[in-house]
Amino acid sequence: MIRDLASTSASTTALSHDELFRKINALKKEMNALVLAHYYTVPEIQQVADIVGDSLALARAAEKNDADVIVFAGVYFMAETAKILNPAKLVLMPDARAGCPLADSCPAEEFRKFKAQYPGAIVITYINSTAEIKALSDITCTSSNAEQIIRQIPESQQIIFAPDKNLGGYIARKLKREMILWQGYCYVHEAFSERYILKICGEHPDAELIAHPECREEVLRHAAFIGSTKALLEHTVSSSAQQFIVATEPGILYEMQKRSPRKTFIPAPKDPDIPHSVCTQMKQNTLEKLYQCMLKRKPEIVINETLRLASLGSIRRMLEMSPA
Ligand code: 13P
Ligand code: SF4
Repeated sequence: MIRDLASTSASTTALSHDELFRKINALKKEMNALVLAHYYTVPEIQQVADIVGDSLALARAAEKNDADVIVFAGVYFMAETAKILNPAKLVLMPDARAGCPLADSCPAEEFRKFKAQYPGAIVITYINSTAEIKALSDITCTSSNAEQIIRQIPESQQIIFAPDKNLGGYIARKLKREMILWQGYCYVHEAFSERYILKICGEHPDAELIAHPECREEVLRHAAFIGSTKALLEHTVSSSAQQFIVATEPGILYEMQKRSPRKTFIPAPKDPDIPHSVCTQMKQNTLEKLYQCMLKRKPEIVINETLRLASLGSIRRMLEMSPA
């Protein structure tokens, strides 16, 4: 739930990036605030954030910090997870309307019925889900630790994996393990298709194709390396390859280029028949909105205590099963 959603509207005064950086940095000190940003946000948000990371790194940063205020420049489920872990802290979002369509593709009532069909199954849920879905789950995971967590589940144990069918399918194939998959997907990663991936690979024969496991199998099967946003980033640093075709949200190219200024990064082209390969929700986080939310101390993430406690267990289990 979001308190004071209306306050997300930008102010009428147009401040320069430098002024906004200065004001945001001053507010960070004054409020003892920690600004967390996902790699898919715009470069200026990544520049002003205290910590930039993938979903797992940000959940860990939200869990362990001395801040009084957490400002989450990401999408709603990320800020909600931070609030679940920190009930006493003020958790703010620059634009609380930045939701995740993948999370929204798994409504609690439908998922409850789906789950009831497999009474013996353990439920492992991608962190890209609502608190209600986390409350119906045994363990949460991210793309960084899903494989590590599933490896710890006995072979004989039936698993429901939700909501991302592509991530679930990738792990099921890799571990040669059947899983019951909810049929959700991320529209950003679904926008890459084999035809256009092969075309760009043909045009750049020396480039290595790297892909996020939220991509479809027809894309993943051609990738030289598959991993979470952070794993892809680290691979581009350690690999001897000088050129990469990157099949994930292009926001990560900012940090890739920063860490390897001499290497070339080519965003994978989307299939022209599919609308988007950029996460418009992540891009809703602007410097102006970040400043305004800190100044006005809203919009604030609030969560009912019963739901918070019900969803906390699956997040805690994830953190225990994949220690930093
Ligand atoms: P990671 O941050 O785990 O790579 O997930 C990508 C994503 O889609 C976040 O919404
Ligand atoms: Fe959701 Fe995909 Fe955007 Fe991540 S990239 S927030 S999964 S829509």
